[in-house]
Amino acid sequence: MLEQIPSQTHEAVYRADRPDLGVTFFIALHSTRLGPAFGGARMWRYQTEADALSDALRLSEGMTYKNAMAELDVGGGKSVLWLREPGKASRAAIFTAFGDILEELGGRYISAEDVGTSVADMQVVRTRTRHIAGLPPAEGRAGGDPSPWTALGVFCAMQAVLDDAGRPWRGVKVAVQGLGAVGGRLCGLLAEAGADLIVSDVSGDRAMEVAERYSAVMVDPSLILRAPVDILAPCALGGILNPQTIPDLNAQYVVGAANNQLATPEDGDQLAQRGVLYVPDYVANAGGIICAVEEFRGRNADRVDEKVRVIGPRVGDILRLADQQGRAPFRVAQAMVDDILAAPVLARVEA
Ligand code: NAI
Repeated sequence: MLEQIPSQTHEAVYRADRPDLGVTFFIALHSTRLGPAFGGARMWRYQTEADALSDALRLSEGMTYKNAMAELDVGGGKSVLWLREPGKASRAAIFTAFGDILEELGGRYISAEDVGTSVADMQVVRTRTRHIAGLPPAEGRAGGDPSPWTALGVFCAMQAVLDDAGRPWRGVKVAVQGLGAVGGRLCGLLAEAGADLIVSDVSGDRAMEVAERYSAVMVDPSLILRAPVDILAPCALGGILNPQTIPDLNAQYVVGAANNQLATPEDGDQLAQRGVLYVPDYVANAGGIICAVEEFRGRNADRVDEKVRVIGPRVGDILRLADQQGRAPFRVAQAMVDDILAAPVLARVEA
């Protein structure tokens, strides 16, 4: 069923066309250097085949960095389920087929839920293969929706930024863009810590609900990126730090959950020149994948909690190095990942 697509940048890229299901599957294995490629399955109605494939390539590369930085003994991969004809087949049929693809890959790639997929979908996948995570917690094993862990990791990253600046939470203004599974929970943690919130979502109802619950100020989605705040938390879309948005930012720090926030690395340099401290997304938002990998290894929620909270000290280390070296934190983080990927693998395998 799987056809390999030649790639210069990735270890292996596969496609499987299933016109009977109205779906084309792309599976991108960016790197298995640290272990099996690990990363979620995104189901989306892309406009073109090129959009679907490039998302799989870009996201799987991001997973290599995220997993390496989180000190996980796995590589980077991602799958994209391109919904070409929505409604043609049931979810059960689509995820059964996806399970068969994972089984055919024989454990070189392990998947989990992502945008457009759910714990229930992963349970269907599990009926065909064991190379899957994101299942409900069971018998002391972690699992389920990874979003609370992602929110906790982002919160810990913000805590590190404030600790570095010697600031307490009280009175800190945070703008949260996107109040979904991660952004909504992040607001809860921030409100509890004593931060003042400015929130926005394209769903007005959702924004209203969060604003009421946490006494937050609600603003139009067109205004959230330029809100005058201490911390901006992008929790909706990628690519939002770009030449159009950067000149208007009014935040001192950017720390959020969205993947691939920088449109290009040069935009990271632009941010640094404007004096905005950007914590790399793949460092801050690793909580979800930490949960999935630990679940896959059969470990419990306490272990996940412990590993997610390490994101704070990790960000602290990056900020200190950035300060010492006079470089932007995202450049320092990139160099750290390059070192991890270049080091002998045995030294990193957990006992
Ligand atoms: P979600 O789909 O539950 O929430 C996203 C929210 O953003 C929705 O409420 C949506 O209406 C809103 N939104 C979309 N465009 C917007 C805009 N222009 N302005 C304001 N709001 C907008 O997604 P989730 O799970 O909360 O993830 C958020 C981001 O974090 C995504 O980029 C995701 O890829 C990333 N991420 C999520 C992880 C997880 O564990 N869920 C793990 C790592 C990254």
